[in-house]
Parts: sequence; C-alpha cells; structure tokens
Amino acid sequence: METRPFRSVLYIPGSKERALEKATGLAADAIIFDLEDAVAIEEKSNARKLLAESLETLDYGTRARLVRINALSTEWGADDLDVIASTRPEAILLPKVDEAADVDALSRLLDARPETAETRIWAMMESPMGVLNAHSIACAPRMAGFIMGTNDLAKDMGARFRTDRLPLLTALQLPLIAAKAAGIVAVDGVYNAFKDAEGLRAECEQGRDMGFDGKTLIHPAQLAIANEVFAPSEGEINLARRQIAAFDAATERGEGVAVVDGKIVENLHIVTAKQVLARAEAIAAMAE
Ligand code: COA
Ligand code: MG
Repeated sequence: METRPFRSVLYIPGSKERALEKATGLAADAIIFDLEDAVAIEEKSNARKLLAESLETLDYGTRARLVRINALSTEWGADDLDVIASTRPEAILLPKVDEAADVDALSRLLDARPETAETRIWAMMESPMGVLNAHSIACAPRMAGFIMGTNDLAKDMGARFRTDRLPLLTALQLPLIAAKAAGIVAVDGVYNAFKDAEGLRAECEQGRDMGFDGKTLIHPAQLAIANEVFAPSEGEINLARRQIAAFDAATERGEGVAVVDGKIVENLHIVTAKQVLARAEAIAAMAE
C-alpha cells in the first residue's frame, strides 16, 4: 500500500520552461510532466528534449514525478520513451489505456533497459473500454496508480458536465474500486474552471468522499485547496488518536469493543484510525 501522499497532482506541459522551473517550489505532492495532450504537435520534439533536461538538472525534491508520454500507438510514443528513459524516470503515465495488454507492452519496453528497471507505470483511465477493463489493468505488471481522465471520458461517453458529476459516477467508481482491490493509488480528474475555487473545493470533497487519494490539477492556484481537502483534518486526527487510546484501554480490560463520542469502536475502526495517522505523518514529512 502506498503511504506517500497524492493529494495534489499537477499537470505541467513539457513544453513550458517557466512552469517546469516554477514547479520545483510549488506545494504539489506529485507532478505529471506532460508530453501528450498539453503539447502541440509541432512542439512534441522540443518538449521531450526540454523535459529530459529539466528532469536531469532541476530538483523536484520529494514530489512524485510522473511523465505522461504519448500512446505507443502514436508516432511520438516510442521517441518519448527513448528520450525520457535516459533520465531513469520513477514513473511513466500511459494515456488512453484500453486493456492490460497496453500496460504489458510498455512494461516489456521498460524491462529491456537497465535505466528503467525500477520505473513504475500509471494508467490514464479515460476511455469506456479502459473503465470496463480497469480490474485487469490495475493488476498488470509495474502498475502503481490510476489517473482519471474525465474530459476524455465525458467526450467518449457523450456525457454532459454537471456539478454533481452524476453522469460520470459509474465511470469514476469502477476504476476506483479496481484500484482499491489491487492496492494502487487512484487520483481524480481535473476541474477545468481553474479560477473557480468554490467549484474546485466541492469537486475535491466529492472525490475525497468517494475514496480518491487526490485530484489532478492544471494550475498552481488549485494546489492549496486540494492539499487541504485530501489531508486528514485536525478533528479527524484527534478522533483517530482517541479511538486508538480507547480501544487499547478496552483491550487491556479484556474487551473487544470501545465507545468514543457515543459511537462504537471496533478493530476495523482502528485500522482506519491508524491509516489516518499514517497519512498525516506522510504529509508532514512532505513539508519538511
Ligand atoms: N504548472 C506550473 N506552473 C504553472 C502552471 C502549471 N500547470 N500553470 C501556470 N503556471 C505558472 C505560470 O508559468 C505563471 O508563472 P509566473 O507568473 O511565475 O511566470 C503562473 O503560474 C501564473 O500562470 P497564469 O498566467 O495564471 O496561467 P496561464 O494563463 O499562463 O496558463 C493554463 C493557464 C491553463 C494554460 C496553464 O495553467 C496550463 O498550461 N496548465 C496545464 C494544462 C495541462 O497540462 N493540461 C493537460 C491535462 S488536462
Ligand atoms: Mg486525455
């Protein structure tokens, strides 16, 4: 199980030098360095070189680093991988994943180079076929996480955008359930209106309540809200500590159940309480 936080996962177009530099000081838990849809066709080749250079020379600290390459079926995918492999990437994010075979193919290419022996794979969940195959994709080799591609999903499903995201709920939940079953990370899709803080907060809260680990973001102004919403609150941390203390005391008395704030506390609640504290600790460690 991943204990590293993925509350805020910021996309940066691989072609934007200023943004690549700026990100070394931004409060993102993870960065997606994008060579795919955020980079125009005529910029693909320059972006790949600029990105490789940035990954070699800039210090992104403890932030998780994911490089989104173009799909291997496109004319750019193989070159992206060639250039990025030399930077010993910690993770490759594969777009438009429809089935486990797409992940297998990338995994074999990573196997073939010593520089990518440890590289993990993340998959964009952004097609109806990908959503239906989420379980086998989550179990494919090297898999570490899912990123929801909600704009592509809505497009392919012919679904309309609504603030409650009701038309997308099943498509969000199937990959989420598959990720939980496989023990990998699941990060929610982007909120397009990047100047609308209130709307972003509501969507972050919805994703958090569903069980997502964090949210993908497109602008630095979105970082603080995602970091706050996906972190355990003071109240949750305090409750977790009191539940653990009460349960320990009950166990000493030879009882299997405790009561805190008028609610029953059993072993399963202690598992959750310990996860809350572990997440809070991992977040504190990021800030150091
Ligand atoms: N990551 C890091 N820095 C970013 C950034 C990002 N995603 N987006 C903007 N910035 C920086 C800018 O470089 C600028 O820095 P500076 O003021 O120090 O020079 C600052 O934040 C303010 O940017 P702003 O002028 O408000 O944004 P913009 O109008 O230039 O760009 C977007 C708006 C949406 C085009 C831009 O944020 C972006 O490209 N986001 C990523 C889109 C993407 O990757 N999409 C693919 C997945 S959906
Ligand atoms: Mg997409």
